[in-house]
Order: sequence, then structure tokens, then C-alpha cells
Amino acid sequence: MMRPSGCTARGVLAALGAGRGAMAQAGGALSVILAALFGLQAAAPPPAPHDGGQTALALLDGRELYETHCETCHRADGQGIPGLYPPLDGTDWVTGDKGRLLRILLHGMQGDVDVKGVTYSSRMPGWGTILGDAEIAQVATYVRSSWSNHASEVSTNEVRRVRRATAGRDAPWTAALLRSSAHTGIPERVADDGRSAAAQETASSGHPYPVERPDVYRTFMPESSPASIAVGLPDDQSYCFDASVGYIRYAWQGGYIDNTEQWDGNGNAFTALQGDIYYRNQVGFPFRFGQGEDAPPVDFWGYRLVGEGYPEFRYTVRDVEIRELVKPHPEQSGLVRTFTVDGLDGPLWFVVGGEQAGVRFEASAGAWQGPWLRLTPAEAATFTITMLRHDSSAP
Ligand code: HEC
Repeated sequence: MMRPSGCTARGVLAALGAGRGAMAQAGGALSVILAALFGLQAAAPPPAPHDGGQTALALLDGRELYETHCETCHRADGQGIPGLYPPLDGTDWVTGDKGRLLRILLHGMQGDVDVKGVTYSSRMPGWGTILGDAEIAQVATYVRSSWSNHASEVSTNEVRRVRRATAGRDAPWTAALLRSSAHTGIPERVADDGRSAAAQETASSGHPYPVERPDVYRTFMPESSPASIAVGLPDDQSYCFDASVGYIRYAWQGGYIDNTEQWDGNGNAFTALQGDIYYRNQVGFPFRFGQGEDAPPVDFWGYRLVGEGYPEFRYTVRDVEIRELVKPHPEQSGLVRTFTVDGLDGPLWFVVGGEQAGVRFEASAGAWQGPWLRLTPAEAATFTITMLRHDSSAP
């Protein structure tokens, strides 16, 4: 359970209403721009980064993005939660200078900020590693034109320009910095070298109240990159997916996450895990095209929510597309990972981490050769890898 310190009323109020039908996408630091171009149903690799950001965006709607990524804190009515999360309705940070708003959305915000006469001193994570340019444009447009706000829309191109101009930014903004004219406005032209989104090492975000599961939460996790996604599953199972590398870093059980510490002012802390890590990936990206090979480079394209809100991750290696859906094992302590693989023209290998990983692996298809599972293209089309805790009792 989450530590419910001092937030009982708020806890009820804030019980996550995040839009479960909404499509959410996440981008690794390197492929964040690509994520903007990823059409949910598109099987073909998306076009090159930085062009045609409008593709497939009919699928993504600003309101759904808001429900998924913002509403938890800023609430459906845009009024925030007094003393904790500032309102977005009727604030100049939202309806004023677009460049300033986009900087806040890309990199986050921390420290004292006055919003409608109230001082907040908290932290908001940046969305630049999770949302593509088009998505940021849509959610920015949504907040600028919702409730009593009537400000102009934001284009994908404007987001792209601000993202490039601020690519070196590696920490959340402060209100004081954003008040200086050096950090406002949409740049006219920027050099075409801002490929990577600013790494965000220190921003944080929190859910100091109960969370419904499954829950997908982009945050800063220990032993993982800044582009981490914590996923809380039913049955007290959780795992950390690292979007920058495209695989599960570790899984834990016995609780989810606790950000209370950050809300107490210790903003540099990582999100604290509750429970015990029982699985740690020992092999990096687990797929290979030949036994004994090194891991191939991975492009992570994001995720969508399926069923009751389970994220299905999508990534590509060479021209092979892999989708991964993780659910708790129905009877034992462990996870069932369902893979869907498309575009193979030879065998695919899945390598597991041996004893130190903390789990035993079972596969629904393929042939084991030590820690290597060999799958033909037909076997790999859909298969599951089950990871059971070593100490979990048989059913
Ligand atoms: C984890 C909670 C949380 C989430 C989720 C969140 N914010 Fe924030 N937001 C904050 C906090 C806290 C601040 C104030 C930061 C500070 O004290 O410096 C803030 C500040 C802001 C501000 C500037 C101040 C204001 O109220 O106008 C804007 C604009 C904003 N957020 C927009 C968004 C948008 C859009 C999203 C979704 C993409 C979002 N936020 C998601 C917590 C959150």
C-alpha cells in the first residue's frame, strides 16, 4: 500500500482517473521524436525524425493525453489540488507565452512558483522523454483552450523548435529562470542538431495517494535510466521498464512506489520502491538474431494501453517489430510476458539471465539450449515467457 500520510481526503479525490482508453506513448531519450510519429496501428516503421509530425495524430486527442498524463495532479477541472498542485485554469503560465509553457512541459518545473496568488514549491516531471512533439502540441493546445482559457493553439512545429533550442537542458525549470526573456518565446530557426531531448536527471513526480492497478507511471527509478516507466500490476506485482533501452530492468513485489519523500522536499531522491526486487535483468535487451551474439540496437516506439489498462510496449530491432505485454501470473509470484513478433526471416533467440536473475523462466514455444531459447518465425509470432520467483511455491 502507498503510505497514506496526511492525504486521506486528497487520496479519495485523487484516486487515479487517468483515461484508461487513452493511447499513451513513451519515447526513449533517443527516439522521442520518432514516438510522435508512431501511429498506433501502423505496422511499417514511421518516417524519419523531424518531418511530418502530424502523421496519425487523429488518434491522439489532447483531452485523452491530458487525462492520462496531467489530470492526476491538475484535475479534470484544471483547478489542481490546493497547496500541492497548481491550477491550469486561468493561469498566465498556460495562456501566456507559448515558448515558456512548452519549456515547462518539455523539462518540468521545480521550486517556488506563484500561480493565482498562491505559492507552490513542488516539482513537476518533464514530459519531453515521454511525449513526442505532436502530443505536447496537442496537450498544450488542450490546456490553453479548456475551462475558462481561450488562448491560441500550439503547433507541432513550435514544439519541435523549442525542443531543439533547449536540447541541452537537463533539469526542470524554475519560475525565476522562466521569467527571464532568455527563456521565453518560440525560436525562429534552430540548428538541426537537437536530436536528443534533454536528459532529465533530477525532476521527479509523485503519487502520494493510493493508485489503481494496473498503473503506468513515468518517473525516476533507481538502477534505471531517466526514461523509466514504473508499472504497478494487480497482485502487488510491479516492474520497471526502461524506455531508453527497451526492456524490463527489474520486477518487484510487495508494494508499488512511494513518492512521499519527494513531496517532503527531498527532490533529488529517486522514486522509492516498496517491496522487494526479486528479478533483475542480467543480460540487457533479451532478443538476439544468432546464438551468442551481442544485443542489437533497439528503437523504442512507445506503448498503448490494452485491456484493463496494461501497457503494451512496442520496439523494433533491425526490421523486426516486437510487442510486449506483461501481466501478473494468475497463481504464483511472477510475471507472464506475452510477445508478438513480426517481420522475422530467420530464428530469433531469447536469452535469460540464469540463477542470479532471481526467477526461473518458462517459455510457451521454442527450444532451450542452456540460457538460450531458439524460436522459429512461426513460434515467435506469439509466445509467452513466464518468470516465476525462485521462492514462489508451486500451485
Ligand atoms: C505529478 C503531478 C503533476 C503532473 C502529472 C503534471 N503536473 Fe504540471 N505541475 C505540477 C506541479 C507540482 C507544478 C508546480 C511546480 C513548481 O512548484 O515549481 C506544476 C506546474 C505546471 C504548470 C505551470 C504552473 C501553472 O499551474 O500554470 C503547467 C503549465 C503545468 N504544470 C502543466 C501540466 C501539464 C500540461 C501536464 C500533463 C502533460 C502536467 N502539468 C502534469 C504537478 C504535475
